[in-house]
Amino acid sequence: MLKISCVVENVARRSSVLWAEHGLSFWIETSHGRLLFDTGQSGAVLLHNLDALGLDAATLDALAISHAHYDHTGGLLALTERLAPGLPLYANADLLRSRFSQRGEAYDAIGLSVDENWLRAHFTLHLDDAPQQILPGVWTTGAITARPHLQGYSARHAVYNGEQYIADPYRDDLSLVIEMSAGVLVLCGCCHAGLLNTLEHVRRTFTHPITVVAGGTHLVSADTATLTEIAQTLAAWNVCRVYLNHCSGEDAYYVLRQVLGGDRVRTCPAGTFLDLEAS
Ligand SMILES: [Fe+2]
Ligand SMILES: [Fe+2]
Repeated sequence: MLKISCVVENVARRSSVLWAEHGLSFWIETSHGRLLFDTGQSGAVLLHNLDALGLDAATLDALAISHAHYDHTGGLLALTERLAPGLPLYANADLLRSRFSQRGEAYDAIGLSVDENWLRAHFTLHLDDAPQQILPGVWTTGAITARPHLQGYSARHAVYNGEQYIADPYRDDLSLVIEMSAGVLVLCGCCHAGLLNTLEHVRRTFTHPITVVAGGTHLVSADTATLTEIAQTLAAWNVCRVYLNHCSGEDAYYVLRQVLGGDRVRTCPAGTFLDLEAS
């Protein structure tokens, strides 16, 4: 059994009672347990949508965070009030680094709104560069170190190296890999490491083929030639289904649909329910 619900997304399914805001959160349920991947931008939207979907955060077995940005971690503080103390939290160690966005001469903080001491007081932290198994058949990708293809960067995103602000290398960025009966699903947060870089890493690291790709793919500023190359690569790998949302962009949706066909490429607003077959 594998059930995935999109809890928070930039838009919500039409006629649903869910709230939308720029951010992302997925609820993942297998026969082995329940996991939340990212917490959206705000506690208000996250908790409202969890309640509306009938999902009880107190039953979670683990939390995983794709990267530090506020639109993926902003709901953490409010969510924690509903969680058992010491819940396992999986992420990359670079999650704890401060993140900024340049605005003229200023640099606004856009990373975690809680510090390391607070996290250690409330969670059992599993921060690692290596892939980590969260539940049987549910893994983090680990760090995406090989990045020959376009990365999902923004020129405004920065970190501070002690002397100056430099471009954010997004070392914290990870996705999830979920084993299914006929391959694996790759569930992306913002995919700052780059979609093809992430997928090639998964193909090298995990034995099963990629059959489903879902989540934020950060193709919002990719040109048509790049999108076409990505779509042709997914077609060559026989990826069966792509669910795009968050930072994927409309152009990615249309180009991927042109190449892969409308049946294989879907949107994934809050309230989308993916009923998939686990391994
Ligand atoms: Fe991000
Ligand atoms: Fe994001």
